[in-house]
Amino acid sequence: GERPRLLVVANRLPVSSKKTGENSWFMEMSPGGKFNLLGGVTDQYDTKWIGWPGFDVYNEVEKTALSKALAEMNCIPVFLNEVFDQYYNGYSNGILWPILHHMGLPQEYHHDASKTFQTQYDAYKKANRMFLDVVIENYEEGDTIWCQDYHLMFLPQYLKEYNNKIKVGWFLHSPFPSSEVYKTLPSRSELLHSVLRADLLGFHTYDFARHFVSTCTQIIGVEGTHEGVMDQGRLTRVVVLPMGIDPDRFISTCKLPEVIEQMNELKEKFSGKKVILGVDRLDMIKGIPQKYLGFEKFLEENPDWRDKVVLVQIAVPTRNAVPEYQKVKDQVHGLVGRINGRFGSVSSLPVHHMDCSVPSNYLCALYATADVLLVTSLRDGLNLVSHEFVACQEGKRGVLVLSEFAGAGQSLGAGAILVNPWNVTEVSSAIKEALTMPAEEREEKHRVNFQYVITHSAEKWGGDFLSELNEAFAESEMKI
Ligand code: UDP
Ligand code: G6P
Repeated sequence: GERPRLLVVANRLPVSSKKTGENSWFMEMSPGGKFNLLGGVTDQYDTKWIGWPGFDVYNEVEKTALSKALAEMNCIPVFLNEVFDQYYNGYSNGILWPILHHMGLPQEYHHDASKTFQTQYDAYKKANRMFLDVVIENYEEGDTIWCQDYHLMFLPQYLKEYNNKIKVGWFLHSPFPSSEVYKTLPSRSELLHSVLRADLLGFHTYDFARHFVSTCTQIIGVEGTHEGVMDQGRLTRVVVLPMGIDPDRFISTCKLPEVIEQMNELKEKFSGKKVILGVDRLDMIKGIPQKYLGFEKFLEENPDWRDKVVLVQIAVPTRNAVPEYQKVKDQVHGLVGRINGRFGSVSSLPVHHMDCSVPSNYLCALYATADVLLVTSLRDGLNLVSHEFVACQEGKRGVLVLSEFAGAGQSLGAGAILVNPWNVTEVSSAIKEALTMPAEEREEKHRVNFQYVITHSAEKWGGDFLSELNEAFAESEMKI
């Protein structure tokens, strides 16, 4: 019969488009965009994506042309234009992101808070209404609407106000903090009330789900149960479902002749040295300064290793218009300079730091040739990079050093060396342990993690979420 319809709503579309001519665009799947990762689920459902196309378009002719080009990729654009800055740089990434990652509100919001906060909050709500409008234009009875992430916390409420019979799920890709941190957010109750209107809420870890439920209990006085949150006899189901990757894509990319050639070049370039790899957006939550401090301590304490190891760090530029991101970049560059100044020589530099993204094939070559992946996130929803590394390490059986504060720490912990990134001594000794780990132990750890990564794919994640959502929706229908 006909496939059920699914509308996935996310801030970012899974494709990025580049203008190539008067009314023509070049489209490609954006590798960092997570929401294309539903794999085979999109064969079971007739799936469309709704999201911001990545840039402003004001001209109506251009809007139509872009919409037409995107439609061929099952994508529908939401043109946010003048609302975008305050919604994305302001409220989403300047306010919500640090709160959700346990960082508290940035200093500037503590003074003259009301005006800035209020305009950004208003823009956030306005943007959510703009997403709503596009969903409504495309909605057909029986459709499933899956809202993604912290950008769209008002969408569940807006959708249910429009039509209480719409099936709505929401998944949070970031952590959810302890109520003590969340409480400081001026708009704390409205956001909670809104997401609770959904039929199903998903989180990556038990801790995030538990924090969410107890925050609801404390702030808006609803009842937390083992199934979710109960508000005046109506249950909002809460599930823990850590996301995954498309492991086959990484495994097969590693077998491409072009990628094998890149691997050989990398091996030659770093011959005689062990390679520690870091791959992160240049975000304060990723703990890149802490990574460098740990590496510096390791070089300080282990002079024999100074010309035998390099740290290759891909620091992908991100959210440049948010002031906190500019600060962390300066701080990181200072540390790189200091470490290379202290421990470099004419023939070798210990740190290779790059402010750029790399093509996805090359990223696989890097994953496959690294001896160690070093993840020192201070807080991280999941960290897909750690899954990707494991998928590419069938040949090498390298070691994963993983922050206990990344969501992935709860699933890949058994096959990793877990660290507290704030403890510089611990990071330094984890580096040493990883570099000197006996082959048998590496083999065993890799086996455990590889098994996890291939059995917990994004496809399974999407399928599980949607069947839980169908169940939750059917149950609530029965009660009405
Ligand atoms: N990535 C990318 N280009 C790069 C480096 C990384 O597209 O140059 C991708 C990487 O493959 C991964 C994503 O960015 O899929 C990062 O996801 P993760 O969950 O690790 O962290 P996030 O950036 O979402 O916080
Ligand atoms: C995190 C968020 C995603 C976001 C991604 C990249 O993973 O959970 O929603 O898409 O970072 O950030 P950006 O702001 O460039 O979309």
